Amino acid sequence: MELSQKIMITLCCLVISCFPLYCEGSKILLFPLDVGYNSKLMNMLKLGRMLTKAKHQVTCVISDRMREDALFKLAERETFDSSFKVISYKTPPVDPDVMQLNTENQGFLDAMINKDVPEIVQFFSPTLTEPLDYMLQDKTIAQLATEEFDLIFADEIVFFPRIMAAKRNIPIILYSNFGPLTADTDIVPRYSLAFVNGCFNRFSDMMTFSQRMENVWEYLRMRWVMSDIYSESEVICRKHGYGESCDNIRGIHKTVNLVLMNRNDVIHYPAPYMPHIISLEGFFLDKPKPLNSPYKEIVQKSGKHGIIVVSFGSMFRRLGLKHRNIFAKAFSAMPQTVIWSYEGETPEGLGENTFVNKWIPQTDLLANPAVQLFVTQCGASSLFEALNYGVPVVCIPFIGDQEYNCLKLVERVKSAKNVPLKGITSRQLQSTMEEVINNITYRENAKKAALIYHDQPIDPRKKSLYWIEYVIRHKGAPHLRSAGESQLSFFQYYLLDIASLVGVVVFAAVISIAFVMKAAIKGLLRTTKSKED
Ligand SMILES: *[C@@H]1O[C@H](CO)[C@@H](O)[C@H](O)[C@H]1NC(C)=O
Repeated sequence: MELSQKIMITLCCLVISCFPLYCEGSKILLFPLDVGYNSKLMNMLKLGRMLTKAKHQVTCVISDRMREDALFKLAERETFDSSFKVISYKTPPVDPDVMQLNTENQGFLDAMINKDVPEIVQFFSPTLTEPLDYMLQDKTIAQLATEEFDLIFADEIVFFPRIMAAKRNIPIILYSNFGPLTADTDIVPRYSLAFVNGCFNRFSDMMTFSQRMENVWEYLRMRWVMSDIYSESEVICRKHGYGESCDNIRGIHKTVNLVLMNRNDVIHYPAPYMPHIISLEGFFLDKPKPLNSPYKEIVQKSGKHGIIVVSFGSMFRRLGLKHRNIFAKAFSAMPQTVIWSYEGETPEGLGENTFVNKWIPQTDLLANPAVQLFVTQCGASSLFEALNYGVPVVCIPFIGDQEYNCLKLVERVKSAKNVPLKGITSRQLQSTMEEVINNITYRENAKKAALIYHDQPIDPRKKSLYWIEYVIRHKGAPHLRSAGESQLSFFQYYLLDIASLVGVVVFAAVISIAFVMKAAIKGLLRTTKSKED
């Protein structure tokens, strides 16, 4: 064989062996919610990076404001631009005190604490509808809507991708960071409010009469709030000339291919789901790395008492005067070393044992055997981290899904105690931390849950990738969704038509029997009377 032939053959082999990789490169459009840098955005970007790693071309749409966000830059700068083709849309400049959720303002914080979830969603509704207007005005986005994509992968509450999916007939997958509790209650339907949470609330799957009533009431309010948001978005959409595609904002539950939800059986109560609704089982958990300086030294120095990791999520790193002082005082009274993800003015009474920094290696610290306790707001990510590493928890829920998550650990896993933020005192927080650390039951329950959690048939990351690629391979997955269900009217769905028919028949039967009996009795009376005569 000549050399040139050999080279040709080698080249051919190379091309063939590389080919499948290039063929798998589908074009995916990623739409995270970019209102604040929090776990919703972080987890969506993690899913996006996983797709990039699997050789897909991922285009990520994000506001220019978020790209300039300090925390976003700090946490994502290493991989964001290299992982995605980034398209940012213009947003008008804003007064940072108005738009930025100023959690350092005690008044704002107190107002948030007193709101329930439908009220919170209503409060934040401009952050859902306004970006739609900005996106539809943006030329880059208009250009994007003319490009070909194999898949749209969007946060459950971002509306533009729904319009684009309808307009271009592109399969769409939604991501729900709050597990089964999507804001739109039709996206993950709550079959039977008798034992399924309709909204984020404090109830288990065994509800008393009054709890069930509250469950139904919150569910209905959530639907009304979402319906208003949809109406507003439809007006914006039609204003920009997207016509019929605007119907898919509200009708997304009839066209979505998959809903990937951040959920796991160990934490969440069992509930019925359709086959297109997939639990992601904590896909986002990072592999822990060895600790770097100065954390390595801090942990070493903590000695036999160990450490307490404190984090209230990226949203509540800054705290109002009252709360930061209460927390600092409680932490200072503990024998453990406390590592607190905190930013802002130094709290009064911050203990010698308390180390604060705005960004701590939370995962690596929680994986460390020195950790005695995790004090957290119990956001979606903290919930899974606590489960994964089997650490006991003291939760101090702030808003939204946090109290709901917290009660899963308190009542279902039994590895945590809850300290409500309303009326919290240093003394109360301190004694709760002491109890959870000193009573071995909490740690044992956490370890037990971690073992069950780790016993999974497929790695959560592989599971997520499999399902996303499944939709790409088959160009959608409408066969997983019940078309019959989505066509039913309210009366048909609750079988009220059949119940009415049964009611009418039974009523008619009763009336006829009564009529016949009356006639019979009358006849009988008449014959006896005539005999007597
Ligand atoms: C430890 O906590 C469990 C659960 O709250 C409780 O039942 C048990 O009595 C506690 N044990 C001690 C020694 O306090």
